[in-house]
Amino acid sequence: MMSSKTLKIGVLGCGVVGSQVVRLLLANKADLSTRAGANLQLVKVAVRNPKSKNYGVPDELLTSDLKSVVSDPQVDLIVELLGGIEPARELILTALKNGKSVVTANKALLAKHGAELYAAADNANVDLYYEAAVAGAIPILRPLRESLVGDQVLKVMGIVNGTTNYILTKMDENGAAFEDALREAQKLGFAEADPTADVEGGDAAAKAAILAGLAFHSRVTDLDVYKEGISKITATDVKVAKAMDLVIKLLAIADVTNDGAIAVRVHPALISRAHPLASVRDSYNAVFVESASAGQMMFYGRGAGGEPTASAILGDLVAVARNKLSGGLGPRESDYADLKIAKIGDTQTRYLIRLNVADKPGVLESVAHVFASNQVSIQTVRQSGAGDKAELIVMTHISKESALSATVKDLSKLDSVTDVASVLRVEGEI
Ligand code: HSE
Repeated sequence: MMSSKTLKIGVLGCGVVGSQVVRLLLANKADLSTRAGANLQLVKVAVRNPKSKNYGVPDELLTSDLKSVVSDPQVDLIVELLGGIEPARELILTALKNGKSVVTANKALLAKHGAELYAAADNANVDLYYEAAVAGAIPILRPLRESLVGDQVLKVMGIVNGTTNYILTKMDENGAAFEDALREAQKLGFAEADPTADVEGGDAAAKAAILAGLAFHSRVTDLDVYKEGISKITATDVKVAKAMDLVIKLLAIADVTNDGAIAVRVHPALISRAHPLASVRDSYNAVFVESASAGQMMFYGRGAGGEPTASAILGDLVAVARNKLSGGLGPRESDYADLKIAKIGDTQTRYLIRLNVADKPGVLESVAHVFASNQVSIQTVRQSGAGDKAELIVMTHISKESALSATVKDLSKLDSVTDVASVLRVEGEI
């Protein structure tokens, strides 16, 4: 039964996600309203240039005046889908100050200015929800903030960028070079014309900051995240990994060091083909969570795209509508633990190092000596080739990143080492 109450909604931005939010909100209005407990009425859709194309939005709802939507006293709830820092930040702050709850998918903004925005929501006694900001349709932020709040999260490890996962999947399946897999992804619309934010890890780093903050009850920003992208991964790296029953994934990882600091990083890493994250292929996303009592869990699904992301937005919209009607607020992210951020040098993992060496007596000994003198313990060494083309593949035990970096520096100084062809981190049991 339709409620007699009405909540008016303003949407900022009508791109790939916004247009699906509007379409689904209008198409499923009766069900969504019944679930929310109020008539959910879309009253404004603000786009920079309403005449530039057909947005599929009734003409009378379209406006180019973004500010008027967040200032309109009649609007109760705002959906921000502009992306980027400004004017999104200013508009959200105004909306919150004006007593409107806000739903956003803006990971870049939350990773940079989350503390300011959460405080503004607190001060105004309204909700700021953002499930769609990390891993699109996959419910992961609410589980971290609510379902797992009675547990202790130990580690979060996610494939949170679909573009890079698609590229790495093609490199793994076809032996393709990075550039060719990227070109194919661009042709199929999986990668942007300027793929920098995806392939160099910026998009995943923003998501990693949000995940780490929620998992460890602390403030984490994009600047706290160490990041390396996938553009240096070669077809040979992938081939070597495959031969060892491993696969390369771009991982967003957050855990706590022995000193109690949050280590948060985005980089390519080798994982076993038996690890649940190895089965996450193409443009799919997944977040693998380990917690003290619940153990291991994986949240898997569509990490991007209009309709999947709109699902998360509309879930948040119904939730903030319910909260508003009940006169309360939804659960907040907490920062009570206030953990420090670890330096990348203090993180610990295993490494696979490929070295091109001369195949002469004493070479292995000199290489082993460099590892030993930097306190990096070797687990296995394999050699292939002979003469000038010999290759050593060294797998280490768990070591400190700073010790490994010093090792690599010293190795490249050895006369017998032609070059350090690649250094890859290894995550999980292999
Ligand atoms: N560009 C992102 C991806 C989606 O490739 O997964 C939006 O965060």
